[in-house]
Amino acid sequence: MRRREFVQAGVTLPISGLTLMGCESAGSNRYLEGNFAPVLAESTVTSLEITGRIPEDLTGRFVRNGPNPDAAANRTRYHWFVGRGMVHGVRLDEGRAVWYRNRYVTSASGPHPNTSVIEHAGKTFAVVESGALPVELDYELASVDDNVSMGGGFTAHPQLDPDTGELHAICYDWATLRDHVRYVVIDRDGALRSDMKIRLPGMSMIHNMSITERYAVIYDLPVTLSFLALGTGSRFPFRWDDDYEARVGLVPRQGDDRDIIWSSVKPNYAYHPMNAYEDPEGRVVIDVVRYDKMFQNDTNGPFGDSLPRMDRWTINPVSRTVSEDIVDERPQEFPRCHPGLNGKPYRYGYSVAVDSNYEFPALYKHDLQKGIATEIPMGAGRHGAEPVFIPRASAQSEDDGYLMTYVYDKSRNASDVVIFDAQDTDRGPVSSIHLPVRVPYGFHGNWIPDEPSSA
Ligand SMILES: [Fe+2]
Repeated sequence: MRRREFVQAGVTLPISGLTLMGCESAGSNRYLEGNFAPVLAESTVTSLEITGRIPEDLTGRFVRNGPNPDAAANRTRYHWFVGRGMVHGVRLDEGRAVWYRNRYVTSASGPHPNTSVIEHAGKTFAVVESGALPVELDYELASVDDNVSMGGGFTAHPQLDPDTGELHAICYDWATLRDHVRYVVIDRDGALRSDMKIRLPGMSMIHNMSITERYAVIYDLPVTLSFLALGTGSRFPFRWDDDYEARVGLVPRQGDDRDIIWSSVKPNYAYHPMNAYEDPEGRVVIDVVRYDKMFQNDTNGPFGDSLPRMDRWTINPVSRTVSEDIVDERPQEFPRCHPGLNGKPYRYGYSVAVDSNYEFPALYKHDLQKGIATEIPMGAGRHGAEPVFIPRASAQSEDDGYLMTYVYDKSRNASDVVIFDAQDTDRGPVSSIHLPVRVPYGFHGNWIPDEPSSA
């Protein structure tokens, strides 16, 4: 493995500099305030205060990646999606919290991957969409290889096929691909297995995808490259496009792009499906967080034009029609489900509530069979993040496991890692690991269990 020395700023900055002061330009920007503001220092903490008891069957790392704006960010124009990547992680070992670390994601060229952290083929990667390569991280979250080949520019949201161990990804890159995106499959050993070109009528932003037993699902929605935004120097040049048809494509996993089954949906933007699967009638069922509008008035982040709700889209591949039903009107984001049921019929999903201040006061546990969602409040002045479900090794049922998330506590301007028993969320957390620092709001992460032979 190639190892490269990176020039890295920020390591020595004082931890007290937690708020964004001294910016070059004035102006209000919700995505730079409060717990959206950057964390400047990298920290290593090996003595962590714990409330409750950490489950002894959790040995591994809970890692997440998110945007960390440069201190010199233009306040007025800063977009939440373009901050530098910073990975935060906690290592657990048979009931102990061994360390907390946060590290900038560093790469010699291109954007610093800032959206998620994944484990594949025994390696840990920071990932982002729109052309950047993944960056490999070592066990302690340092960037060690910025030239990882997964077929080229990758995505923040590869979908793992739990049966084959393959990663499926829709990769877009407005700067180089222009008229098409790529449907890439990476095998369980990390090698490129297939790379399909999919031509599109425009340059839409394709944040995510889904898999089902027979299909890859592509979301071609009306947020497209804006030459006006590009021409005026926007670092995030995508805008709402009233003239672009919203549609969903079913790509046969064994076919080619001529076989794609396209169906129209109502104009919307969706970053995150909770899951997708095929029902006994051969229809494709997708539970998805969707917005009515995106980047029309609020060009700094996702929440200013509309707040997102959970819908169910049921696609009939024969008639190419979609029924769109509301699952939960309450604003929510960052949905997850049992990782072993990705692309398969499932009953339980998890998401985080979004309020009108663009904060995250509760989690939701969806029971899709009963059609209900239980609210799991984070407490006064406390705000959660993407809830990651971790099945128990000896699980007897789908929701037998843990729900883990980062929670920002305003009263101490710092974050906790909080662990719930997913079957008994009313009881409150079984454990809270109190970090001495903040973990800023946004985006994604995973629980990466240690291999039995490692660490
Ligand atoms: Fe995402």
